[in-house]
Amino acid sequence: MSDVYEIGTQPPLGTVPKEMYAQVIRQSRFGEPNKAFAIEKIPVPTIKPDEVLVWVMAAGINYNNVWAGLGSPVDVIKARQKEGSDDSGFHIGGSDASGIVYAVGSEVKNLKVGDEVVIHCGSWNAKCPSVLAGVDPMYSPSFRIWGYETSWGSFAQMTRVQAHQCLPRPKHLTWEESAAYMLVGATAYRMLMGWAPNQVKKGDVVLVWGGAGGLGCQAIQIVRAKGGIPVAVISGQEKHDFCVKLGAKGTINRKNFKHWGMMPHWKDDAAYGEWAKGARAFGAAIWDVVGERKSPQIVFEHPGEDTVPTSIFVCDTGGMVVICAGTTGFNAVADLRYLWMRQKRFQGSHFANDEQSKALNDMVLAGEVDPCLSQTGSFADIPAFHQAMYENRHPHGNMACLVGAPRPGMGRS
Ligand SMILES: NC(=O)c1ccc[n+]([C@@H]2O[C@H](COP(=O)([O-])OP(=O)(O)OC[C@H]3O[C@@H](n4cnc5c(N)ncnc54)[C@H](OP(=O)(O)O)[C@@H]3O)[C@@H](O)[C@H]2O)c1
Repeated sequence: MSDVYEIGTQPPLGTVPKEMYAQVIRQSRFGEPNKAFAIEKIPVPTIKPDEVLVWVMAAGINYNNVWAGLGSPVDVIKARQKEGSDDSGFHIGGSDASGIVYAVGSEVKNLKVGDEVVIHCGSWNAKCPSVLAGVDPMYSPSFRIWGYETSWGSFAQMTRVQAHQCLPRPKHLTWEESAAYMLVGATAYRMLMGWAPNQVKKGDVVLVWGGAGGLGCQAIQIVRAKGGIPVAVISGQEKHDFCVKLGAKGTINRKNFKHWGMMPHWKDDAAYGEWAKGARAFGAAIWDVVGERKSPQIVFEHPGEDTVPTSIFVCDTGGMVVICAGTTGFNAVADLRYLWMRQKRFQGSHFANDEQSKALNDMVLAGEVDPCLSQTGSFADIPAFHQAMYENRHPHGNMACLVGAPRPGMGRS
């Protein structure tokens, strides 16, 4: 048995090496992604009774490890030291993976060595009283995003996960396609289907911010599959065809508008009037795409500060603005008159539970949702791919990097 295997190679099934290569974030390197990550040799972690070790074939790239590398808004290493859950002093990120099960804990019943899996990033303590009481584990104080709030993510040859995080890998996809969709797809699924009664229904208009982005491309496909009418927002015409091919009724180029950011105070008549003109014009652009004066029943939000005032303004009476991030900032100012008079809902949403992750995976297995993999890199490319994401110059859709898979295009059967 070798102590460490080279990237792109694979030990015999069930053989767990002592050490592995990992892309590691340390506090001393906090900063932009190109600086934050470095490849190190790290001991392979041991597993608890409800956990499995997975040999990572490919890892998906998400925005969360841009935040982890920056050390902001949360220093994830310090947070874990503070709660006493991990004093390793480093962070191995990566919240999406495809791979092969190499070892199972003593209590694991649903998996065996050799199973090909995709991994969802929701982890929690199964013995937490609220989980035991049947409350959605997403509300448990023990809930953590694997590979962001926890270490031992997929930017390493082996990852340690709870068995319930593993779902069957779609065999019509390559390793890298399989690694690309779960985090964004399941997040989008909960946002669109998890907040009854504001779930996508046949004929509902849904405004999707960042339609060509990771979350957006999944949202467009889910809305279309559920019979809704997705309207995608983009920042360049080159993204239009991509969104329409996925099922968007049309797109709106946000660069044609200028009223973004926190709205002016309502007492400042002139500035407020100017803002309202921009927001109304944006609402009219939605109607133009839809072909009638029908406003969005759901607004799929994640840019945050730049867009929330407009999202709340254009949302239909009785509709919902559902938000999972604040990529452009966290101060979301709204004109409350529109919220209460039109009885709109402003709903926070975060990742997904087991059932929602499975529902999304079932849509992928059925071919209703494509991972939209647009770029595949090597293990060494992990920092550069995050850097591109940080600078919003990454391609549309989702990105993944090979870890155990020796070359792109493998794993399809
Ligand atoms: N809470 C959760 O569970 C969860 C899960 C997944 C992701 N997230 C978060 O959600 C955010 C987006 O993730 P992602 O994977 O979709 O990222 P992404 O692939 O980078 O897509 C984000 C999209 O937002 C659009 N955008 C950028 N700046 C904007 C602005 N000023 N106004 C409006 N739109 C803007 C961009 O599209 P255009 O330039 O074409 O408009 C971009 O494609 C990140 O902050 C991520 O951390 C949260």
